[in-house]
Amino acid sequence: MTFAPRAEYSTFQTPFQEIAFERLRSTGLVLDVGGGGEGIVSRIEGSRVCAIDINLSEIREAQIYESAPQWIASDGESLPFRNAVFQTAAIWFSLDYMADWKMKRAVVREVLRVLRKKGSLSIMSSKIICREARFVLRMRYTLPDGSVYQTGYGVKGNQGQTMDRISDIVEQTGFHIAKKDDNGYWFHLEGIKK
Ligand SMILES: C[S@@+](CC[C@H](N)C(=O)[O-])C[C@H]1O[C@@H](n2cnc3c(N)ncnc32)[C@H](O)[C@@H]1O
Repeated sequence: MTFAPRAEYSTFQTPFQEIAFERLRSTGLVLDVGGGGEGIVSRIEGSRVCAIDINLSEIREAQIYESAPQWIASDGESLPFRNAVFQTAAIWFSLDYMADWKMKRAVVREVLRVLRKKGSLSIMSSKIICREARFVLRMRYTLPDGSVYQTGYGVKGNQGQTMDRISDIVEQTGFHIAKKDDNGYWFHLEGIKK
């Protein structure tokens, strides 16, 4: 007798995505939400970054790259900052790790609070619409200095996360959408605080 694979144990893996990360366009202090793991924003922008992550182990992992951000262990839903202190914020592949939609919304709202007026938000995220229990975005990425790395971000599958759904949340929270870039398995959005 043969058994069909059970959907709850299955994994959807994307083909390797080639992603060339660029420097953030804005100046000033940068808040990086979920900035541990690969620690990409800190490796690109260095000491002007304040990187927060809910998992100390992810902060430790990112510290191997010896970049120079200010590291803070914190939940993105409740940031330990006053209102309107950052010029720029990045949420790169971190919303994917927050499968609960209330949490995704709360984090975007909290980022709005700590951004200055006209401050910019850059979001990169995976499109997670597979039926499988796990989703893995596989990527080969290049930093602005030309160095190349390979990684995979494994998260809960079947989240119904699309660029339009996240863009709606960003807009409803109080941002103008300045850029929408759909790359198939992942997307990049930019918002400006009204
Ligand atoms: C893909 S990983 C790191 C990606 C990182 N931004 C980068 O570009 O290399 C996503 C991170 O989000 C963090 N995270 C998940 N939920 C969070 C929350 N509620 N608040 C802060 N960080 C969170 C995880 O601990 C994890 O380190």
